[in-house]
Amino acid sequence: MSETGKLIVGGQELELPIITGSENEKGIDISKLRANSGGYTTLDIGFKNTGSTTSGITFLNGEQGILRYAGYPIEQLVENSSFLEVAYLLINGELPNQGQFSDFTSSITQHTLVHEDIKRFLDAYPERSHPMGQLSSLICSLAAFYPESLDPHRGAEEVDKTIVRLLAKMPTMVSWIYKRSMGHPVVYPNNSMDYVTNFLNMFFGLPTQGVDVDPVIASAMDKLLILHADHEQNCSTATVRVVGSSHAPLYAAISAGVSALWGPRHGGANQAVIEMLKNIQADGGDSQKWMDKAKDKNDPFRLMGFGHRVYKNFDPRALLIKKSCDEVLEKLGIHDPLLEIAKKLEEIALKDDYFIQRKLYPNVDFYSGIIYKAIGFPTEMYTVLFALGRLPGWIAQWKEMMTERQPIGRPRQVYVGPNERQYTPIKTRV
Ligand code: ACO
Repeated sequence: MSETGKLIVGGQELELPIITGSENEKGIDISKLRANSGGYTTLDIGFKNTGSTTSGITFLNGEQGILRYAGYPIEQLVENSSFLEVAYLLINGELPNQGQFSDFTSSITQHTLVHEDIKRFLDAYPERSHPMGQLSSLICSLAAFYPESLDPHRGAEEVDKTIVRLLAKMPTMVSWIYKRSMGHPVVYPNNSMDYVTNFLNMFFGLPTQGVDVDPVIASAMDKLLILHADHEQNCSTATVRVVGSSHAPLYAAISAGVSALWGPRHGGANQAVIEMLKNIQADGGDSQKWMDKAKDKNDPFRLMGFGHRVYKNFDPRALLIKKSCDEVLEKLGIHDPLLEIAKKLEEIALKDDYFIQRKLYPNVDFYSGIIYKAIGFPTEMYTVLFALGRLPGWIAQWKEMMTERQPIGRPRQVYVGPNERQYTPIKTRV
C-alpha cells in the first residue's frame, strides 16, 4: 500500500498521499487539500518547504552536497563532458551518441547569426545600461523575429528549432551586448569554431583580428558553463516555469528567467562578490571587520557568495570552481589580491560560530567572479555569463513542464488586508 500522512484540520482528519521520488525524497501531496478540508490552504512564504513540481532533470541533496544532472554526478560531467553535450543531456534526458551529438552541434552552428536589426536595438540603449536588462529584452525580442514560436501547440520538431535557435544565438547576443557597450564593432560568429571558442572569439576579438583562444581558458569556461547549467527549482527556473505555464512563448519565459537571475540574492551575486572584495581591498583589506559587519543584524551587509537556500553543508560547484580558479590564475600567471581576500574570508567564516550555526558556506558565485576577472570579462558581464550557462537548464525545465501539460502556475494567498468597507468620496476623507 502506498504511504500516506494524516492532517487534522478544521475538526476533520485528512489522509494525504506521500509521493516518493527516485532518490527516496518524500513529498506530501496536498493537491486535494482545499477541496477536502473546506478551503484550507498552506502558507510557505519563499517556498522554503514547498515542491512546485516533480522533475526528472536535476537531483540535488543540500545536506550531502550532491548535484547530478539526469543521474550523472556534476564532478564526472565537469571532468569528461562538454557544455553542449550537457545541454543535450538536460534537454533530452540522455547523453547523445556520436550521431545525435553531431546533428545537435551542426544545427546549433547553422543558427548562430542573429537578425541585423538586433544591432539597432543595441544602439538604442543608453551607454550605462546593465547588460542583464539588455539580454532579457533581446531574448524576448526573438519572439518578434520568429512569430511562429508564439504557438505553444506546435509539433516537437518546430519546438526543437526554437530551442536550437536560442542556444545558437545566445553567445552572439551576449558578445554583441559587450561590443556595443564598448563602442566596438561586433564580431560575427565563426562556424568553424566550437561553441565556447566561438563565443570567446566574438567577445574578445575584433573584425580586424581574431584572438588566439587559449585552450586552457576555453576549457575553464566550458567547465564553468557546465557547473551553471541547471539547479532544479531555484528562483529563475521557477520563474521560467511559471511564465511558460501561461503558454507565453519560450523566448518570453527565458527572458523572465534572465530578469529573475539578475538580482544579487541569486545570479547577481557573482558581480556583487567582486564588488564586495574590491570594497574590502579599498578599505584596507581588514577581512575581520567585514565579517563582523555581515554578522551585525543592524547592518544590511551580507557576505556575498555565502549561504544557499538548499546547500547546508557545502556547494559542490564551489569546490570545483575554486580548483579551476587556482588553475586559471596559475596558467595566466596572475596574482590577484582579491583571491587572497576571498580565501581569508572563507577561512574566517568556516571557523566562525555565526556561519557554522547557520550552515553558511561559499556558494557557486564566491569564486566564479575571480575566474571571469582573470579571463578579462568586465564585472557587469558576470551575471550574463551565468545566464549563458543556465540557458539549457531553463529550456529543459520549460520543456518538461510543457510536455507534461502542467497547469498554469497560480499560488494561493492568505488575505490579511482590510475587511469590506464602504467607499467615501474624496472631499469627505480626513
Ligand atoms: N551573510 C550573512 N548572514 C547571512 C548570509 C550571508 N551571506 N546568508 C544568510 N545569512 C543569515 C541570515 O541573516 C539569517 O540569519 P538569522 O537566522 O539570524 O536571521 C540566516 O543566515 C538564514 O538566512 P536566510 O536569508 O533566511 O536564508 P535563505 O535561504 O532565505 O537565503 C540566500 C539564501 C539568499 C542565498 C542568502 O544566504 C544570501 O542572501 N546570500 C548572499 C547572496 C548570495 O550569495 N546569493 C547567491 C546564492 S547562489 C545562487 O543563487 C546562484
